[in-house]
Amino acid sequence: MTTITILGAGPGGYVAALRAAQMGADVHLIDMGQVGGTCLNVGCIPTKALLHAGDFYHTASAGAVPGVDCGAVTADWDEIQNHKGLIVHELVSGVESLLRAYKVHMHHGRASLVSPNSVSVENEGTLVSDAVIIATGSEPVQLQFPGADLPLVIDSTQALAIDHVPSSLTIIGGGVIGVEFATLFADFGTKVAIVEMLDEILPPCDHDVATLAHEFLIERGISIHTGAKVTSISSDGVLHAVTQSGDIELQSELVLMAVGRKPRLPDGVTQLGIACEKGAIKVNDNFETSVKGVYAIGDCNGLLMLAHVASSQGEAAVEHILTGKHSYNPNVQPSCVYTNPEIASVGLTEDQAKQQGFDYRCGTFSMAGNGKAMIEGSVEGFVKLIADADSGELFGAHIVGPRATDLISELAMVMSMEGLVDDIANLTHPHPTISEAVREAAKGVFGSPIHGLPARR
Ligand code: NAI
Repeated sequence: MTTITILGAGPGGYVAALRAAQMGADVHLIDMGQVGGTCLNVGCIPTKALLHAGDFYHTASAGAVPGVDCGAVTADWDEIQNHKGLIVHELVSGVESLLRAYKVHMHHGRASLVSPNSVSVENEGTLVSDAVIIATGSEPVQLQFPGADLPLVIDSTQALAIDHVPSSLTIIGGGVIGVEFATLFADFGTKVAIVEMLDEILPPCDHDVATLAHEFLIERGISIHTGAKVTSISSDGVLHAVTQSGDIELQSELVLMAVGRKPRLPDGVTQLGIACEKGAIKVNDNFETSVKGVYAIGDCNGLLMLAHVASSQGEAAVEHILTGKHSYNPNVQPSCVYTNPEIASVGLTEDQAKQQGFDYRCGTFSMAGNGKAMIEGSVEGFVKLIADADSGELFGAHIVGPRATDLISELAMVMSMEGLVDDIANLTHPHPTISEAVREAAKGVFGSPIHGLPARR
């Protein structure tokens, strides 16, 4: 029986452990914290639990459905936090019982690499195995400037555990964490400002998406300062930043630092001579490091820091160890931002298609032309598809709108099968659904959407 030792029980490590056990391996899983890692404990799950409560509170307070009066809507932050904790607890317990059911050996303690096939666990001893998977995740980047270490400067973990809704919050970084926390606290009535170093928020997103996100965040009452470099924060909560148009000062109760995450590597990586680049463990297409038999998956390899990507890479590494092959495709990994409306994308942005020299065409369809979006009072958004100008093969898809994060899987599937926009355009989509906007955008790439004028380039 093949023995595999996995360092880190986040969405990368625990999924790898379950998959390996299902495939018949003898699995040792080590974590110094709670099973579930950042995602389940202090990331995706608790953030989305609070975002859901905030969205519901905001929608009910705003009387979003004409004719429905919710009366005086109140939010009990302690109760919302308790509910968040309960969801996290249930999910973590669920994963723990699955690991037990599949007879994964769980070890609690700090793990270090000793040799390519042995790992020591603090207070436990050494585990020897046929293969090792490093899945130790990442941690927030901390900027250094005067005032950066003041207690009023918090990170996303502290923001999630906060015991009250702050009256005002300045967020450094307009990336995914920045805009999700901006949405969350603005929904509960916090006065929120975002300070972003680049000229645009959400840097990895398609330009049209980032532009619309900027607009709808501002409509929500969030102020956004782009091209701004933070220089200091004073103890009374005044943040100083320089911009091309002059210096700015923003006063707030708290400052959230959300300027990215960096890979977290276990002890022993350097000693074993495992190659790293920009602080991340270098891997080949099979997620194997420069040392044979040692794999690195998820945030610690720095390829794409997303929970679902870590899980898929974990499955792929295990399949490679046990069968010599896997089916992970790096080009069709979806990414999602849980703003309101939601944002989701897969594949190339238009700028990337341009830079890579593709002859492409875009088809777009506005949510304003979609009946279900209108019924739900959420017409802000669009579907944008980028396809080969000749064959119509789908290269990229970008959705802003209700349930964008669920809709994106259809497009990831088409891309993974090297499908064409016509495959989508020719497929009947149920009515009335938001998914009809996807079909309309597909029709718009070469022809016209039925419920709209051609909006292709
Ligand atoms: P990020 O890399 O997405 O964004 C960081 C932002 O901070 C960038 O826009 C950057 O230009 C800006 N920045 C950097 N230095 C700055 C400075 N000195 N002053 C002002 N702005 C500055 O990182 P983020 O948002 O912290 O997220 C970390 C990781 O977690 C990302 O890989 C993200 O994909 C992942 N994540 C994913 C989520 C999702 O899938 N929904 C949710 C939350 C996080």
